[in-house]
Amino acid sequence: MMGIKIIATGSYLPSKVVTNDDLSKIVDTSDEWIVKRTGIRTRHYLGEGETHQTMAEAAAKQALERANIDRSKIAACIVTTLGGDYITPTCACMLQAALELEENTACFDMNSACAGFPYGLKLAQGLVTKERPYALVVSCEALSRLTDFTDRSTCVLFGDGAGAVVVEGSEDTPDICAILGSRSNQPVLYIDGSTEEGPSYIHMEGQAVFKFAVDIIPRCIQWILDQAGKTVEDLDWLVMHQANERIIDHAVKKMQMPPEKAFKNIAKYGNMSSACIPIALNDLYEAGQLRSGMRVLCVGFGGGLTWGGCLIEIGGIS
Ligand code: ACO
Repeated sequence: MMGIKIIATGSYLPSKVVTNDDLSKIVDTSDEWIVKRTGIRTRHYLGEGETHQTMAEAAAKQALERANIDRSKIAACIVTTLGGDYITPTCACMLQAALELEENTACFDMNSACAGFPYGLKLAQGLVTKERPYALVVSCEALSRLTDFTDRSTCVLFGDGAGAVVVEGSEDTPDICAILGSRSNQPVLYIDGSTEEGPSYIHMEGQAVFKFAVDIIPRCIQWILDQAGKTVEDLDWLVMHQANERIIDHAVKKMQMPPEKAFKNIAKYGNMSSACIPIALNDLYEAGQLRSGMRVLCVGFGGGLTWGGCLIEIGGIS
């Protein structure tokens, strides 16, 4: 059994920065309401010349340059996303050429909504081999394309961005102890598939999703810790999906953790679905706060409803 470590991170935030005051010009909202109820102050949207693909490529290239590995030893490139520029080819398939990956690399997109990143890591762990021990997990979301800018209860929440990690598998590395789950509940959070009715938008009953999140997250964290034989004291960081600052604070309180161990960047970027966790990891790296040997517990939750988390070590970062 091979476990994996994160050996490099990367991210890309698109150029257009939108403040709460900007949104209050198009819907009946205010900076005060958004900050108090969510913790969000700004978010990034795709700007001129930027697409889902350009974001994914930029984040992946940054992670690969930092990893400085032999690309022929990459077994898989997994993109987690609610949807890229095309239904086919997938974003991951287009990354094969852009990143100069060998053709015998498994490249595919997967959708577990906001829980996508831990799902992607678990798949990556299963795909690396002794001969080809590396995998790339890229989480890329263009939520501004799925946002109904007439609905104040959702349009203030979301942003665009991409995060990427390079992982390395080895028999000496512990299993990431991933816990992945799902509970069918389409009405509380959904995005229509292709229809003739018009654009597909995110529809969400915020309170119902909030209740789901505060119930499942502490349980998910505890299941992962139990499986790994660790306690919250063994964690260097808790990196959660950044959907609402109050959800993160609730989890920290419930787990009786020091609040400074729970990383937050929701104020700058809002909810970027599966991209939140790897972007947070890259923010930590760029702040000099992610070092080899650290243990990070990641937890995502969202549409489906889905949830997932894992405990992953950092390697190769001095
Ligand atoms: N500005 C001002 N007022 C607003 C806004 C706004 N942007 N949005 C809603 N309101 C109003 C409502 O109309 C309501 O008014 P009323 O009391 O007169 O009826 C009041 O504010 C309270 O609304 P609630 O929906 O009860 O507000 P709540 O405190 O629940 O916050 C929020 C809403 C932020 C959406 C919260 O429920 C939440 O974060 N839910 C979880 C979201 C989440 O975790 N999503 C994860 C997955 S996302 C994905 O998968 C893409």
